[in-house]
Amino acid sequence: MNKAKIGILGAGTMGSGIAQVAAQAGHRVVLVDLNEVALETAKNSFQTIFSRMVEKGRMTNQQLIETSNRISYASNFEAFSNCGIVIEAIVESIAIKHSVFSELEAVVSEECVLASNTSSLSIASIGSVLKHSKRVIGIHFFNPAPLMPLVEIIPSVQTSQETLNFSKALIDSWGKITVLTKDTPGFIVNRVARPFYGEALRIYEEGIADFATIDWAMTSIGGFKMGPFTLMDYIGNDINYAVTESVFTSFYYDPRFKPSFTQKRHTEAGFFGRKSGRGYYDYTEGVVLPNAIEDPVLGKQIFDRIITMLINEAFDALFLNVATKEDIDLAMTKGVNYPKGLLLWADEIGLDVVLTKLESLFSEYGEDRYRPNPLLKKMVKEKLSLF
Ligand code: NAI
Repeated sequence: MNKAKIGILGAGTMGSGIAQVAAQAGHRVVLVDLNEVALETAKNSFQTIFSRMVEKGRMTNQQLIETSNRISYASNFEAFSNCGIVIEAIVESIAIKHSVFSELEAVVSEECVLASNTSSLSIASIGSVLKHSKRVIGIHFFNPAPLMPLVEIIPSVQTSQETLNFSKALIDSWGKITVLTKDTPGFIVNRVARPFYGEALRIYEEGIADFATIDWAMTSIGGFKMGPFTLMDYIGNDINYAVTESVFTSFYYDPRFKPSFTQKRHTEAGFFGRKSGRGYYDYTEGVVLPNAIEDPVLGKQIFDRIITMLINEAFDALFLNVATKEDIDLAMTKGVNYPKGLLLWADEIGLDVVLTKLESLFSEYGEDRYRPNPLLKKMVKEKLSLF
């Protein structure tokens, strides 16, 4: 069963990346897109990528031919009729996913698993249109799929144990690191990572520090590969803002996830980041990036506040059984390259230190955003640690 034929719907950024991973793992893959140009682009990009791998000695010429031959292309859903699983990676719209999933069910076999690569939509809702909804599951890759090791596996309330076992074993066999997460907004990574952006924006809005100084604090004191503003400029403010807004709405407007006007205005102005030439920083050729104020006291204050908020969010995911402590830490280190798992980090900092910081923020601002997680409070009271 694990060498099942793989169907991928959507030949864009994610779909083509997932198709590449599956073909390199030895599966026959059919890539389907309504747009012929997208299929052509994907096909050409595979040739470029595989040729480069041959040049670097990571693939033989024979493997290039075999891997390329394993991928077929189609613009109709009938091509999925003999697939063991179809992974959907089309536009992030629940209405479109609903119509596509019922169309898919009409052409696939009874046993075929139907998966979505959605980053933010409910798997239960996607599965609601299916006659056999026990076959639905979320399989969430990170961009770029061939390079990022993490995949979040998201069973919904309808998903059967067989669907879950099959999907997890399949993705594990592709050499990916899988974590299991509940069907809740943002799953693990896109939920737990919110304060990295949100609290950085808040610190800026309060006038405590500028973009460069906040980035400097998080990289040089925190050890993060990129500071929040540099990272938002990479991701694109339009994309990052949309995820924040979607998580905020999905959590019934919990103030912990409140989006920021600074990011909204940057998005409205077209300051998306690197791709538009300007975001929080100006990427025009010849423009020198601003210097940080490298004040260790200020830097520590910034780092302490952001890491405390990140840890509180990781605690919330653990408290509400979104995932195990091991999977929460794996997700953040393998999905977004955090230098350490947040829960392990919490133990190192000291749970009492984290709680004291949160209590002081909560008392200073009086905002629900800073409320300490009940599990954190309980563990401090009982003098427990996580690992
Ligand atoms: P994309 O815009 O690069 O590609 C989407 C493709 O789907 C396009 O080629 C389009 O022609 C095709 N398409 C649209 N409607 C279709 C239909 N009804 N039937 C067949 N093909 C159709 O999008 P991207 O970025 O690859 O995202 C796809 C999904 O993956 C979305 O749900 C997104 O939220 C999710 N995702 C995206 C990530 C990213 O960083 N881009 C990361 C993880 C998940």
